Amino acid sequence: MRLDKLLAHSGFGSRKQVKELIRKGLVLVNGEVIKNDDYHVDEESDEIFIDGFQVDYQEFFYIMLNKPTGVVSASFDKYDSTVVDLVSEYDFVKLFPVGRLDKDSEGLTLLTNDGKLCHNLISPKKKVEKEYYVKVKNKLSDEDIVKFKNGITLDDGYTCQSSILKILDDYIASVIIYEGKFHQVKRMFEALGNEVLNLKRVRIKNLWLDETLPLGGYRELSDEEIAKLKEEK
Ligand code: URA
Repeated sequence: MRLDKLLAHSGFGSRKQVKELIRKGLVLVNGEVIKNDDYHVDEESDEIFIDGFQVDYQEFFYIMLNKPTGVVSASFDKYDSTVVDLVSEYDFVKLFPVGRLDKDSEGLTLLTNDGKLCHNLISPKKKVEKEYYVKVKNKLSDEDIVKFKNGITLDDGYTCQSSILKILDDYIASVIIYEGKFHQVKRMFEALGNEVLNLKRVRIKNLWLDETLPLGGYRELSDEEIAKLKEEK
């Protein structure tokens, strides 16, 4: 990889800024000052220092965000602030959210630059579990559980895969779905004549929302969490 690209990807500034640092002789590769920015380094084995700091190259980033309402699940939006704006300290990498969470929904949002993991988590073929806590307008019933299990037909005629409804309280439930249609959970309840008042995602596959994160709070995943998310079923 080019030295300037690696440094920019590691958060030492824009491509232009790191080129300047390189030209000034502030960058050492294996103990040698390197002044040409198109110099190629081996990110696995070369020892790189910039202005006395050792560069710890990391290719992929995995951030768990407790999304608040009012923020859109996108990398960019003309009008609203996005989940990527909330983690702006990582703006040296191109993070994107894994799957959608509506503007008025909150909870677990995973942000990464690892396209392969993202694909494996959102592809309908992989049938990855997504779990939500919902508060609804009308009282829940055991019949609803059966309807979720049998597959609810949405307003556009699409019949959802079998899903799991667990009633936690008269108006509060956990819903586990295996696909990610537009506004799916809200539309499933609408099809039953009910209405979702609050929706919070708490789990994607085996990754639970860290409830110690305040709304808008975020942290990097641990190595163990990343390894578990990458496990084949
Ligand atoms: N289903 C919805 O209706 N909204 C979400 O944000 C996520 C799932």
